[in-house]
Amino acid sequence: MENGLILGIESSCDETSAAVVKEGREVLSNVVASQVDWHRKFGGVVPEIASRKHVELINPVLEQALKEAEVSFEDLSAVAVTYGPGLVGGLLVGIAAAKSIAYAQQIPLLPINHIEGHIYSNFIAHKDLEAPLVCLTVSGGHTDLLYFKELGTYQILGRTRDDAAGEAFDKVAKVLELGYPGGPIIDSLVGEGDPTAIDFPRPLLTEDTYDFSFSGLKTAVLNYINNQQQRGEEINKADLAASFQQAVVDVLTARVIKAVKEKKVGKVILAGGVASNSQLKAELEAKLAGLDVGLYYPPPKLCTDNAAMIASVGYYHYQQGIRGDYDLNAEPNLRL
Ligand code: KG4
Ligand code: ZN
Repeated sequence: MENGLILGIESSCDETSAAVVKEGREVLSNVVASQVDWHRKFGGVVPEIASRKHVELINPVLEQALKEAEVSFEDLSAVAVTYGPGLVGGLLVGIAAAKSIAYAQQIPLLPINHIEGHIYSNFIAHKDLEAPLVCLTVSGGHTDLLYFKELGTYQILGRTRDDAAGEAFDKVAKVLELGYPGGPIIDSLVGEGDPTAIDFPRPLLTEDTYDFSFSGLKTAVLNYINNQQQRGEEINKADLAASFQQAVVDVLTARVIKAVKEKKVGKVILAGGVASNSQLKAELEAKLAGLDVGLYYPPPKLCTDNAAMIASVGYYHYQQGIRGDYDLNAEPNLRL
């Protein structure tokens, strides 16, 4: 039906989610079934368990999303689904569900890049937000700096040359035996620590590039921990967390400021799981305010993986006439 109602499906990692969104920005439902309890005891997402859980959860989650939105399959204009990046087993579950619905209803199938979904959660949260703007996308798998001259297209300014920022958070937390996922735990520990206690490196900070690198920082943290242990000295976890997080925030902030000045934009948006980091938001907000630049980010519920953001991108693709075929396959390593 030509009413701008898009069903979104997301199953790329450890959340099974379905949502109904009207005209890209109005969320009628956004059901997220998290599997995090099933994976926590393994210290990370176990792909085989994730695939099996997605199979179990996809139908009830879809049913709930339609029920909450008070719509039926017949009301939908199109179905949007994450086809990458992510775990192949999980992606295939979402893609199979989306194809079935698209075929049964004879509506368009819209293949969506998960990372683009994270970005568009901003346009759900801030209804009047328009380009031009700079976007920092920081998640467990990606660290990208983008320039949107207008909505619907973007230019990649820079990306990580090795580890993603979230990956570094998770690895540091794992070595410190803090739990999983590491980002929020480190974030909450930081208040008790001294960010100047340990002088960790700020990779590429002085270079004239938009790129990032986090593997050197991660190695420096691991080396510090090993050295302390060899010397029999205790590790102050809060100081370490605060010093590590300060290094990450310094690098991310510097890149955004450089892009804002060079592209002369008045708005910055954040996307991805690391965008919920409290220090990153606070420091960026303060620095950007000095330049008269607004900072926008989605509320925590939209920062984590969810299908509403997938449906939102889907609407803009739908309007532009972008369509997928029934031979759509999962692309685990898909990039922006
Ligand atoms: O976007 P996301 O939910 O999943 C994908 O990677 O697609 O991002 C998850 C990442 C994890 O690495 C997690 O540790 C990190 O985001 N994260 C945080 C915070 N909340 C989540 N990192 C730093 N501070 C946080 N508050
Ligand atoms: Zn994600």
